[in-house]
Amino acid sequence: MILDMTRPAPLQEPERQHHFIRLLKEALEAEKLATGRQRTYSITTMGCQMNARDSEKLCGILEAIGYKPAESEKQADLVIYNTCCVRENAEQKVYGKLGYLKGFKKQNPDLKIALCGCMMQEDAVLEKLKKSYREVDLIFGTHNIYKFPELLATMEESQGGMIIDIWKEHGEIVEDLPSIRKFGFKASVNIMFGCDNFCTYCIVPYVRGRERSRKPEDILKEICELARDGVKEIQLLGQNVNSYGKGLEDPITFAQLLKEVCRVEGIERVRFMTSHPKDLSDELIRVMAEEPKLMPHFHLPLQSGSSRLLKAMNRHYDQERYMDRVHKLKEAIPDISLTTDIIVGFPGETDEDFEETVKVVREAGFDSAFTFIYSPRIGTPAAVMEQVPESESKPHFDRLLKVLEEVIDQNNEKKIGQVHKVLVEDESKNGMLTGRTEQNQLVHFEAPKSMIGHIVDVVLDESKTYYFIGHLLERE
Ligand code: 5AD
Ligand code: SF4
Repeated sequence: MILDMTRPAPLQEPERQHHFIRLLKEALEAEKLATGRQRTYSITTMGCQMNARDSEKLCGILEAIGYKPAESEKQADLVIYNTCCVRENAEQKVYGKLGYLKGFKKQNPDLKIALCGCMMQEDAVLEKLKKSYREVDLIFGTHNIYKFPELLATMEESQGGMIIDIWKEHGEIVEDLPSIRKFGFKASVNIMFGCDNFCTYCIVPYVRGRERSRKPEDILKEICELARDGVKEIQLLGQNVNSYGKGLEDPITFAQLLKEVCRVEGIERVRFMTSHPKDLSDELIRVMAEEPKLMPHFHLPLQSGSSRLLKAMNRHYDQERYMDRVHKLKEAIPDISLTTDIIVGFPGETDEDFEETVKVVREAGFDSAFTFIYSPRIGTPAAVMEQVPESESKPHFDRLLKVLEEVIDQNNEKKIGQVHKVLVEDESKNGMLTGRTEQNQLVHFEAPKSMIGHIVDVVLDESKTYYFIGHLLERE
């Protein structure tokens, strides 16, 4: 690929990146004319919704340049891994994949490999990649995703070697770069980046930087554009949405932002994640009860039911405060579904601590939960605390899953026969369609594919614990 790097690049963002998008696009068009082939990419996203949203931005940039999605990773000209480092097994997966890609590169020396995301922000990872994974062409982090066009141009211009651009600190929030969406009818929107909470087990504040909020006008502009494009459901994303707006010139609360978002015409459903129990305000609960567009689902990470462990985790709430929030939510929004995250085997966890978690799971009556065995992350305070052996954490983990399934089944039973409004999302593996209720619960049901993207009435017939089987409500 030949890039015309003689043209001066603007210094301002996002104009600078648009300049590199144009350069790359022209070069790819020329290449396509000469070879008859369009370049392809494959991207694998690990981890959370934040990474999923970042990948949409990377895909948007690549497609603006003229890349198209490859049919398989094996056939791609550019392979990207957007990595996660919240637990160790996610990191191991990346090293495994790199070993496998090394083989591809031997067969196709033109293949380019790029790595980005949270794992790249760790010094030890970078050292290991530099030493043992020389086949990687480009490495960038979480703070400079927006610079992807410029980094691609630098990679194309370099004569081999690894291009590394990792920032230790975040810069300005750069708006108005291309992005694509997985679905036409629902979209995720970042409202803030980073986290200041420093839970003692968590690496996120070290790899995603300090908490900063996008301006409400930028968020609302994006949502209005999405609504014009036909998006019906919006999911607002942040590590701790309850503290949205704190550092802004004109501070605004998350509840106030939600009200504004609900006013956008065309948007029918609004969701958000993630909330921190310590910051969950009465104002937010009130707005949730009042605004019909706010869906009755709340993801409220518990982490542990033991007040002693919550203190050691630096969570700034205890069991009592957590349950107070749960009761307030259920009182204000009786049909609310509650989901959570739970860690088992945090340093020092005893049988008694674990029983406290089981107690909260039963009392809160969760509708679903993500459960994790504690994974020590280098650089976090909990990594140097006294660890719990797997022989103790694994049986607890298995028991927690059993209790959760029991609790979820009890909740689901009560919903059998009910009619729910379902946003139809996709085809499911069993040949049915799949969608989500207002409570964010999955339902599979028979219906024509033309219903994808529409909100339809579905009767819930059977619970399969993590989803329901239902049927379309026939209209007379
Ligand atoms: N070990 C296990 N689980 C973790 N989480 C965060 N850090 C760790 C860790 N070191 C879990 C928390 C968080 C979710 C996204 O991942 O439950 O809410
Ligand atoms: Fe990690 Fe705690 Fe921040 Fe969530 S709130 S991202 S668990 S530090």
